[in-house]
Amino acid sequence: MIDAQTKLYGIIGNPVRHTLSPLIHNRAFKRMGLNAAYLAFEVDHLEAALKGIRGLGLQGVSVTLPYKTDVIPYLDKIDTMSTKIKAINTITNEGGRLIGYNTDWSGAMAALEEKVDLKGTRVYLLGAGGAGRAIGFGLKGRGCKVTLFNRSAERAAQLANELGFDHRPLSSLATLDRLDADVLINATSAGMHPRDDVSPVPKSILQKGVTVMDIVYHPLQTVLLREAEEQGCQTINGLEMLAHQGAAQLEIWTGKRADVRQIKEDLRKAIE
Ligand SMILES: NC(=O)c1ccc[n+]([C@@H]2O[C@H](COP(=O)([O-])OP(=O)(O)OC[C@H]3O[C@@H](n4cnc5c(N)ncnc54)[C@H](OP(=O)(O)O)[C@@H]3O)[C@@H](O)[C@H]2O)c1
Repeated sequence: MIDAQTKLYGIIGNPVRHTLSPLIHNRAFKRMGLNAAYLAFEVDHLEAALKGIRGLGLQGVSVTLPYKTDVIPYLDKIDTMSTKIKAINTITNEGGRLIGYNTDWSGAMAALEEKVDLKGTRVYLLGAGGAGRAIGFGLKGRGCKVTLFNRSAERAAQLANELGFDHRPLSSLATLDRLDADVLINATSAGMHPRDDVSPVPKSILQKGVTVMDIVYHPLQTVLLREAEEQGCQTINGLEMLAHQGAAQLEIWTGKRADVRQIKEDLRKAIE
């Protein structure tokens, strides 16, 4: 029940009307027995929104596009990994001090590490946008040998140089006979609704023994994942990272362990 003691959380971004975050967090708060609520705030004026968090005493917020980087100057502190990534997706309000964290990278690593031992693994990472960047820093921290593929060569070169990765054009995948990698991660928007009839990877180069993760979650079964399964690959869908990054946010805000398995179940029912 919402009452005068209810602690308020939310998400700031624009657009946010289709976000699944309220579903993740409100159900988890209920299961955890917390008097807390989570709302979606479609924000036009970022600075005013940050003042509102402090002024109204929101306990914490998620931050989504387009504000993950722009929000940093308004915060009192950000953690080490967010400083490297130059993006945050989580804010806690500690008595008016706003602290920023990034759970995209840790959510992706947790999703991968449920299925793969990452140490020393050869990874093809597709995408040098916000998600590709967060995942790239995570993979570097795990000691993976990464080749970065991106549509725009300039963006690929910039991120690859920062991380010490090799880089190639996304289109070069079409010229390969086979993957020289143990893990392939799609962190591009290719295959996302409404253009969900395409895959960024030719089916012929997917082979048994490779783990394929697609972080796109709309649809859950992308063409890439369907074809990877047909080729005998182990697959990880976008719901896994989404659930783990949400669970990590809950843990930052409440200090309590969140039930990831249940969050995945909630998301699966909502998405399918
Ligand atoms: N599962 C999760 O928890 C989770 C979390 C975050 C994001 N995501 C998903 O990840 C995807 C990327 O998000 P983002 O935040 O990184 O977006 P972003 O910052 O806008 O970056 C988009 C990336 O996709 C590439 N791209 C876009 N359209 C493409 C196409 N038609 N063909 C090939 N490459 C294309 C871009 O390449 P260029 O550099 O050449 O433009 C860039 O690398 C989205 O589908 C998003 O929903 C999932």
